[in-house]
This record gives sequence, C-alpha cells and structure tokens, in this order.
Amino acid sequence: MQAQKQVEQLFAGLIGEHYELLKIICPSAPDISLRVGARVAELPPRPDPIEVLEIGCGTGITSIALLSGRDDIRLLAMDSEPTMLNQARRNLSRWLDQGRLTLLEQDALTTLRSQPDARFDAVASAYVLHNFFATYRLEVLQEIFRVLKPGGLFVNGDRYALDDVREQCRLTQEEVRGYFRELTRMQRLDVLEQWILHLFSDESPDHIMRLAPALESLRSLGCVDVAVEYRHGVNAVVTARKPA
Ligand SMILES: C[S@@+](CC[C@H](N)C(=O)[O-])C[C@H]1O[C@@H](n2cnc3c(N)ncnc32)[C@H](O)[C@@H]1O
Repeated sequence: MQAQKQVEQLFAGLIGEHYELLKIICPSAPDISLRVGARVAELPPRPDPIEVLEIGCGTGITSIALLSGRDDIRLLAMDSEPTMLNQARRNLSRWLDQGRLTLLEQDALTTLRSQPDARFDAVASAYVLHNFFATYRLEVLQEIFRVLKPGGLFVNGDRYALDDVREQCRLTQEEVRGYFRELTRMQRLDVLEQWILHLFSDESPDHIMRLAPALESLRSLGCVDVAVEYRHGVNAVVTARKPA
C-alpha cells in the first residue's frame, strides 16, 4: 500500500501544540528518551561518524538525548507532522547549525524507502511505532532491517502493551485516571479529550503493539539479540541487531 494512505495525523492538533504536557501525564516518556540516547551512545568508538536514523523525532526530545550522548553522531531525523517538526527546528537549532542533524518532513516509510541498503549504524525511535497501523509498522520494521549496516543496532523506546490483556486494561484505566487528575487540575479539558481519543487509537486492534508479538516480528525479520532492556508498565526499551 502507498505509504501516505497509511499515515494518520495524530499529532496535528492540540496534542502536538501542547506536547510539553506529555511529561506531566506520562512521566516515563522523558526517561525513556534518555535511555534511548544512552543506549546508542554505548556503540563502540570508530574512526568515522556514527550514522543514526531517528523515526518520528516529534519536538526533538529523543533527538537531544541522541545528539548529546556523544559528539560523533550524525543524525537524520524525520517526522510527518509539521506542528511537531516546527518545534523540533527551534529546539534542535544548535545541532542543525553544527551540521550534525538533518530534519525531514516525511513519513517514516517514505524516508526509509529512499535510503540505500546498510546506510546506518543505528536506527532509534521513541513513542512512535505504537502509533502506526500494524501493517505499516511491519513494513517500517522490514525497511529498518534493510537500512541497518551488518551488526547495526535498532533501539526502540515505546509503549509496548502487556501480553496479559486484563493487566493491560487495568494499566490503561490507571493511565486514564492520571490524565483526568493532571489535566483537570490544569483546566485543560480540551487537551484531555484529545489524549483520551488518542488512547483509544493506541489500544485499538489495528494499532496495539503487544510485547511478545513485537519481539517475534523482529526475530522473524532476521534480527538477533532481540532484548527488552528496560520495562516499566507499558513503557519499554527494546533493542535488536542486524547480524554482523
Ligand atoms: C508521541 S510522539 C514522539 C515524539 C518523539 N519521538 C519523542 O520522543 O518525544 C510521536 C511522533 O511520531 C510522529 N509520527 C506519527 N506517525 C508517523 C509516521 N508515519 N512517520 C513519521 N512520523 C510519524 C508524530 O508526528 C509524532 O511527532
């Protein structure tokens, strides 16, 4: 299917305009971004710059973690949503000026398809893949595998739903309570409404990204060393490698 037809504008409105509120309703998110940056920074030193692709950079929270993790990273980051990318351009101006960062306004699959085989040492992402339709996500993962160099690293910090459906439901209810508590306190019922609608999308059968099938997809694509390096509720950091 054409990539454009599978891309939803989930961050175009109030959620994107007030994205800074995420750290209040989901305090794990900034921590996961830091973990993604730290994991890429662990790559062994090498004479050439480390080429990293970031999927869905949003306002640049994870990009900052990646770029400040070490000086030899060159980052190509894309996002399909102008509301988010405009904020990223401001937040990441320092690295844009240094020439260490390229930002693309494009959907993930379009960018990936335009890249040659084995171009990147690492592909990183945070809180993006769970937003995708499952079919689109699988195509994205296939392309990530193709563009990684042999031995290259995939790091995804994301919302991985629990395989225990009842426990997942309980966590989601707890999350909804948290959204109401924080956003009614701030009198942002407009933003609250959008995040609740967003959660319905995350949890819907054609989007939900459960942990065990997600790990299995990576293995069936040919990835090795597939691991959950961190998990707190639905928030997890998953890593995998392309065989050397
Ligand atoms: C929850 S935000 C995460 C942003 C950022 N990665 C972070 O860590 O803060 C999800 C981002 O994914 C972007 N996105 C959603 N679907 C996309 C797609 N198909 N291609 C590229 N970006 C996409 C959204 O526009 C949004 O900026």
